[in-house]
This record gives sequence, C-alpha cells and structure tokens, in this order.
Amino acid sequence: MILPIVAFGDPVLRKKCVDIAQDYEGLEMLIDSMFETMYASHGVGLAAPQIGKAINLFIIDTTPFEDEKYPALRKVFINPEVIEETGELWEFEEGCLSIPHIRENVKRHANLRIRYKNESFETIEEAYDGIAARVIQHEYDHCRGKLFVDHLSELKKRLLKNKLLGISKGAVNVDYRMRFPAAR
Ligand code: NI
Repeated sequence: MILPIVAFGDPVLRKKCVDIAQDYEGLEMLIDSMFETMYASHGVGLAAPQIGKAINLFIIDTTPFEDEKYPALRKVFINPEVIEETGELWEFEEGCLSIPHIRENVKRHANLRIRYKNESFETIEEAYDGIAARVIQHEYDHCRGKLFVDHLSELKKRLLKNKLLGISKGAVNVDYRMRFPAAR
C-alpha cells in the first residue's frame, strides 16, 4: 500500500523515535508498504517518521547510484544505532521526500559503523562508506528527529525559510502522495 509522505513542518518529523519489538503489529506489511511508497516516489531511502510513525525503522535501496565499486544495497534497518562515524567529511547534494524540490550540499563523515536488527530481528553490525553510508546517515537522522536542512549554515537556512514554510502548507507540486501539516 502506498502511504502518504509527511511533509516538512509535521511534528512527527521532529520526534525522537522509539525502538520496536519483534512482535510489533503489522511490521512485515509496514515494511512492504514503505518499500512500495519509496519506489512510487523514486526515493533511495525512507524512514518511518516520514510515513507518520515515530519508530526506529528505515529502509534503503541505492540502486539508482549503483556502479562497479558500489553494488546496489536494498536493506531494512530496525532499531539502528550508529556506533561511530569516521573518515573525512565530504559534501554531497542531498534531497528528501519530505522536503520536495530542495537539494543542498551536506557534509558528512565518509565512514560509519552501525548496529541494527534485520527483518528476522537478528543483530547485525556492519561498516559502510560511499553512497550507502550517506543514505544511511540521512535516514538515521530522521529517526532522531533531524532533517538534512538542519546541517546547513544559518544563512542557507534563512534563505530557505519561505520555501520550507510553503512546503508545510502544501504550496509545492509533487507527483507522489503527501500529507501537509499546515494545509487548509
Ligand atoms: Ni529524508
């Protein structure tokens, strides 16, 4: 089922998400719906708060960025915990399905180690770099109530203020289902 994506300005995007248990009701269906929703909106990652649930869950599929060095990664992260971020800071232009039509360079560390549960609730610990690390960092931020625009300079934030307000009111054209907090 394709779910509406929550737009910038909705308080659920600012919540610190909570861990879930293996018997979380409808988890399998929720994950399926999140993948369906992400593909319908051409995203490479989607976090649960973006479909209105403040739980520690996100999915990624880096297929659009696939190359010889970085094979596509399709994964579910449950109760993720970034253990460490290391390496050089590098800039990459990020966007977000909750913040349509805004893309900005964000600096993040090149490497990360993360611990999480997979769909079978097995504990996994892995290291990532490249685009996969980038997408994971962006989605992990969502689970902590953080958005990519929070990483921008004060000046950039000021320049984007009206655009962001417009998005929260639904004054934006998108070709996927969205829910706007301040729409009338
Ligand atoms: Ni996002």
